[in-house]
Amino acid sequence: MWAGCKILILAYLTTEIWMERQYFSQDVDPGAEFTRNHTILEGTRFKRATFEGQYCRSFGCCEDRDDGCVTRFYEADALCYCDKFCERENSDCCPDYKSFCHEEKGWPPHTKPWSPEGCYRDGQHYEEGSVIKENCNSCTCSGQQWKCSQHVCLVQPGLIEHVNKGDYGWTAQNYSQFWGMTLEEGFKYRLGTLPPSPLLLSMNEVTTSLPETTDLPEFFIASYKWPGWTHSPLDQKNCAASWAFSTASVAADRIAIQSQGRYTANLSPQNLISCCAKKRHGCNSGSVDRAWWYLRKRGLVSHACYPLFKDQNATNNGCAMASRSDGRGKRHATTPCPNSIEKSNRIYQCSPPYRVSSNETEIMREIMQNGPVQAIMQVHEDFFNYKTGIYRHITSTNEDSEKYRKFRTHAVKLTG
Ligand SMILES: *[C@@H]1O[C@H](CO)[C@@H](O)[C@H](O)[C@H]1NC(C)=O
Ligand SMILES: *[C@@H]1O[C@H](CO)[C@@H](O)[C@H](O)[C@H]1NC(C)=O
Ligand SMILES: *[C@@H]1O[C@H](CO)[C@@H](O)[C@H](O)[C@H]1NC(C)=O
Ligand SMILES: *[C@@H]1O[C@H](CO)[C@@H](O)[C@H](O)[C@H]1NC(C)=O
Repeated sequence: MWAGCKILILAYLTTEIWMERQYFSQDVDPGAEFTRNHTILEGTRFKRATFEGQYCRSFGCCEDRDDGCVTRFYEADALCYCDKFCERENSDCCPDYKSFCHEEKGWPPHTKPWSPEGCYRDGQHYEEGSVIKENCNSCTCSGQQWKCSQHVCLVQPGLIEHVNKGDYGWTAQNYSQFWGMTLEEGFKYRLGTLPPSPLLLSMNEVTTSLPETTDLPEFFIASYKWPGWTHSPLDQKNCAASWAFSTASVAADRIAIQSQGRYTANLSPQNLISCCAKKRHGCNSGSVDRAWWYLRKRGLVSHACYPLFKDQNATNNGCAMASRSDGRGKRHATTPCPNSIEKSNRIYQCSPPYRVSSNETEIMREIMQNGPVQAIMQVHEDFFNYKTGIYRHITSTNEDSEKYRKFRTHAVKLTG
């Protein structure tokens, strides 16, 4: 009997240590809050499995209020009991008291067989072979242990906390739409601009005509200066086409500003995604120079005319707009809008793009004078958590930091 018990306890401890390693070695630690106090030993009692919730299971059902029947209840950062006192519906009984002490009656305390089957998590029992999702990783219950994949997740609670506790000039947020995605998936589906081509980089910089002495205001947003003429960003979702979204949006704003509000339609990124696809870039990234070329040569219809597809992966997402030149440089659509409710299939074209200096002051002047600009930026993993403030990349503090030291290019619209 005793030998059996020791072996069980040993096995249990081994499980715990294994679990702990699992969690500490994970790239993203969803249980950071829980593990912190995990190493605290309570009296002579061995460590409790932080994630298993096998409370009463290890102590049995002690008869009455018994301090020896107490265990750490990590969810509430408190202690819980496994004794008859719990019959009084006290809130300090362990979550598995009822299921364990009532359903498995008949075993004298401390002699219950330790069920070798399945795993526990948050006080819940899972069958062998169960799979649960831990943010972007999936964990399988195998041999009474959770075995988890080791992906780097797009949302890293530790990083959010790190940013928000530090003095970095910006704050971070847990975006629920990114929860469950790996960093690789974030890079693959949420950005979508190719690094600038040599042609783009060799473009001459244009300086603005605003006198250098003009004082720049502390605060400036294009939509305040040109209300109704600028457009809010559209959600690209999992379509890696920031090349198309940012170009269409900047072009729409600029057309409205230059036409003094005569043409205020938002332009269709879907038109670019589906039609400006020489090598079928679409939602698999693309180049902004190609997008501007298309805007100039072929033109785009409005977003209302050619709205975003619900499913960018659908097979019938070919180009649904056709246009021809009227011989005087203007183009006209030859097909009605894909959105049949919208009647205007006017084609909007724009003049060649120009490059603004990378000098911050120059960019500010340009936005104030001519409207929003497009910027190509390098996105690191922390940017996916950006909420407010002036973003600066924060190097990961994680041990596995080489896994995080990656970046991809993204295109955005700067509005102020
Ligand atoms: C550990 O728990 C104690 C009290 O239970 C608390 O005072 C302490 O701040 C905790 N430590 C951490 C790192 O959370
Ligand atoms: C982040 O958001 C997801 C989805 O809303 C949620 O399940 C998760 O618990 C949150 N994580 C943190 C650390 O707040
Ligand atoms: C397209 O399909 C892939 C793989 O099935 C999926 O991961 C991705 O999210 C889908 N993209 C969109 C925009 O629905
Ligand atoms: C940016 O341009 C302004 C003048 O427009 C100049 O005063 C400033 O020194 C420039 N900054 C850099 C970093 O070159």
